[in-house]
Amino acid sequence: MNFGILTSGGDTPGMNTVIKSVYRRCIQNNHKLIGFSGGWKGLLDNNSIRISESVLDDIDLGGTILGSGRTNPLMVDNGIETIKQTLEKNSITAMIAIGGEDTLGVANELCKAGLPMIGVPKTIDNDLDGTDYTFGFNTAITIATEAMDRLHSTAKSHNRVIVVEIMGRHAGWMTLHSGIAAGAHMILIPEFSLSKAEIVNIIKKRYDNGNTWGIVAVSEGYSFSKTETNDMEKDEFGHVLLDKLDVAQSIADLLKNELGITTRAIKLGHVQRGGSPTAFDRVLCTQLGFSAYDLAINKEFGKMPALQGIHIVPIDLSQAVARLKTVDEQSWKVARKLMGLD
Ligand code: F6P
Repeated sequence: MNFGILTSGGDTPGMNTVIKSVYRRCIQNNHKLIGFSGGWKGLLDNNSIRISESVLDDIDLGGTILGSGRTNPLMVDNGIETIKQTLEKNSITAMIAIGGEDTLGVANELCKAGLPMIGVPKTIDNDLDGTDYTFGFNTAITIATEAMDRLHSTAKSHNRVIVVEIMGRHAGWMTLHSGIAAGAHMILIPEFSLSKAEIVNIIKKRYDNGNTWGIVAVSEGYSFSKTETNDMEKDEFGHVLLDKLDVAQSIADLLKNELGITTRAIKLGHVQRGGSPTAFDRVLCTQLGFSAYDLAINKEFGKMPALQGIHIVPIDLSQAVARLKTVDEQSWKVARKLMGLD
């Protein structure tokens, strides 16, 4: 059989491990794997890439050997029909799309249109439903934690509060987990906003107790007003570039103005998506790749492998994309306790 594979959306450490794992199973069973380059654009342009056997011997580097992009084929005239023709031209019997909510939302629509789609859940944001963790999340929070550990010593030496902006769009998972791991003194996520007075008070208490420095972890999507993003530039899936909001700087300014203390703001940005995946993500990606291959062989279209507990189970794409998985109250309570709010 001929299988196709693409990576779409923000690149994520572990993408190459998934590609490698699917490829390994194809080689073992004499099937062909065709890569399409640059996300959905590769299918629209029939732009394929040969995956070479050397991928099996390489260590698991970050990024994606197929390239990625944020093209939305549902916004392109005859997008679905064009993709259908590409699949036919290449005699593709199953098409594996590695991506987050946007990519898998498209895969789900293509499947409804009769195309043989299978998804693999990736995103550092960890906001896909139906799976305990998406791959890339563990790597990204490890990077963010290490960055905050390093900022810890410089903040303390200079008696400053350093506000660290963390990716994750409208889901606070990355900020919550890395903030807890790094022992941040304040954690601010979009799902459970604190008032300006609460924010100032948490840091004031530290200073009153003689701890004249601190680390604040804040999500890029943290906002005091929902209308702030209305007029901002959006990508093809309607997402605004949240780092333009400069939320860490706003929090740093608020603390400086209200408390008269020295503050600095840092955006961790794309460094959070760079480099090799952690051991956890490499194992997860291997499992996901093998399971995606099984779904392809068994023609179980419209599904994706998902991590539930310690096992991988197939779930419907429609379930994964029905809602955004945001931080729940119980998970948030850990941060509240750390901050002494409960
Ligand atoms: O969805 C992954 C993500 O890294 C988000 O956390 C972030 O807001 C966005 O992508 C950044 O997008 P881009 O790579 O297009 O700048």
